[in-house]
Amino acid sequence: MNADNPNPYASLKPVTQIMTNPHFTSIGGETAITQLVDKFYYYMETLPEAILIRAMHDADLSHTKQVLVKFLTEWLGGPKIYSAERGHPSLRKKHMNFPIGEAERDAWILCMRHAMEDIVTDATLRQQLEQSFFKTADFIRNNQ
Ligand code: HEM
Repeated sequence: MNADNPNPYASLKPVTQIMTNPHFTSIGGETAITQLVDKFYYYMETLPEAILIRAMHDADLSHTKQVLVKFLTEWLGGPKIYSAERGHPSLRKKHMNFPIGEAERDAWILCMRHAMEDIVTDATLRQQLEQSFFKTADFIRNNQ
């Protein structure tokens, strides 16, 4: 290798670096994400603050749970199963049928905060995720 013939692969990252998303790995992969989603809906079913948002969902949450696991898996950098099955996330559009204001946003975040406290052991990661969830929930808001 010399200056006239530079290494064409020099700018490529090692495959392991491309395949590994720190969030997906550090949260504990799909097992932890499934537990997180179970806890999230457990809190949505039990916290009085979440009654309004629980009522927006079907009585049977099993399909919704599967979809959220797939979405979060992809969102955190794991396999892209969600968009392969359900297209672009377009979360704002997909929530347009539900009146979401500050109270609904805060109820969603409350359930997720409790779920993360149960499942995500790394406090820094919990904080980072809560900030990202908040931004997303606020972006979805279509009501006061
Ligand atoms: C801000 C308060 C929120 C409320 C009240 C809310 C409510 C809902 C409801 C009622 C559904 C339909 C469920 C069903 O079809 O069974 C839904 C779907 C969904 N929500 Fe939310 N949501 C909120 C925030 C979020 C946030 C912050 C995220 C992501 C970080 C999210 C991700 C999703 C996903 C991925 C779906 C499924 C979309 C699809 O059909 O592909 N939601 N949400």
